[in-house]
Amino acid sequence: MSQSNLFPLVDAPEAPYEDPLDLMDEIERLKVERDASILAHYYVDGEIQDIADYVGDSLKLARDATNVKTSTIVFSGVHFMAESAKIMNPEKRVLIPDLLAGCSLADSCPPDKLAAFQEKLRAEGHDFETVAYINTSAAVKSLCDWIVTSGNARELIEQKVPRDKEILFVPDQHLGRYLMEVTGREMILWPGSCMVHEIFSLQDMLRAKRKNPGSQVLAHPECPENILHAADFVGGTEKMRRHVASISEPTTFLVATEVNMIHPLKLAAPQHEFVPVPGIMADSGETCACNRCPHMARNTLQKVRDCLRDGQPEIEWQSYFDRAREVLERSLLN
Ligand code: 13P
Ligand code: SF4
Repeated sequence: MSQSNLFPLVDAPEAPYEDPLDLMDEIERLKVERDASILAHYYVDGEIQDIADYVGDSLKLARDATNVKTSTIVFSGVHFMAESAKIMNPEKRVLIPDLLAGCSLADSCPPDKLAAFQEKLRAEGHDFETVAYINTSAAVKSLCDWIVTSGNARELIEQKVPRDKEILFVPDQHLGRYLMEVTGREMILWPGSCMVHEIFSLQDMLRAKRKNPGSQVLAHPECPENILHAADFVGGTEKMRRHVASISEPTTFLVATEVNMIHPLKLAAPQHEFVPVPGIMADSGETCACNRCPHMARNTLQKVRDCLRDGQPEIEWQSYFDRAREVLERSLLN
């Protein structure tokens, strides 16, 4: 079960203000003292990305985790990412700044429900392999045949999943539908979705495009079909970064993914302008330009400093990590 199922999403009282530059100095010092490296996903605050030793998408960070030389990893991202880093490095101590940093996709697919659904499909005579997006708990990974990220999903499905097998794709229905389109493979889709990518407003995106002639829409494949069909470029975060870096002509990009992604995009290609695509606020139906993942936002400089200093929260080894490790390694390292 993912940690975010265990605790309500209630924020702790606001921490007293501390100067970010002081915090950065303290973190640099603690990294050396505690023999630690920081891995940060593109969706955490830019200032955390700036003090990290490794920054990247889910695929790069899972691979980077296997190259870390220090005895401790601080994973600034969400729980399933830190869990994957621990699985790939059983002997290392893996810390996460906030154990409550979960993921709506991982939460949508509890292991008991997946096991029951797989059983039902088998009883109905389906001959399938289960392909899981990396945004799943380790318990779910241990029930699957393959793990994919937005960075390798198409290639893995085309190269490794036997053509005579059906595919059960979990948990992101939108990514699954997109992969059906690009690979031409039929898939049984789990009905999960990302709470951030689910809410982009197509109307506001089209209006922003009209207001910015010559602009390009970049969309993450976790977005629903209507957004993907209107996009000029569909790709995971690292693919987006490479795409903008490959264009030298100054261009306006409308970005349909978590808004912190603009930080690495600007670093990679400062000649461009990046505009966040607005989302729809679920309750009021109004639009906002605040597509922040509340789970990623649990990572703050203070919590990074605290977990380095205190040596916790820590990801503890679980019995099912062994099986999850086999699946992760053959999916992401080969
Ligand atoms: P990538 O960085 O692998 O594209 O993943 C996006 C995401 O939603 C991570 O939670
Ligand atoms: Fe999960 Fe979406 Fe947040 Fe990524 S952005 S961690 S998929 S809720």
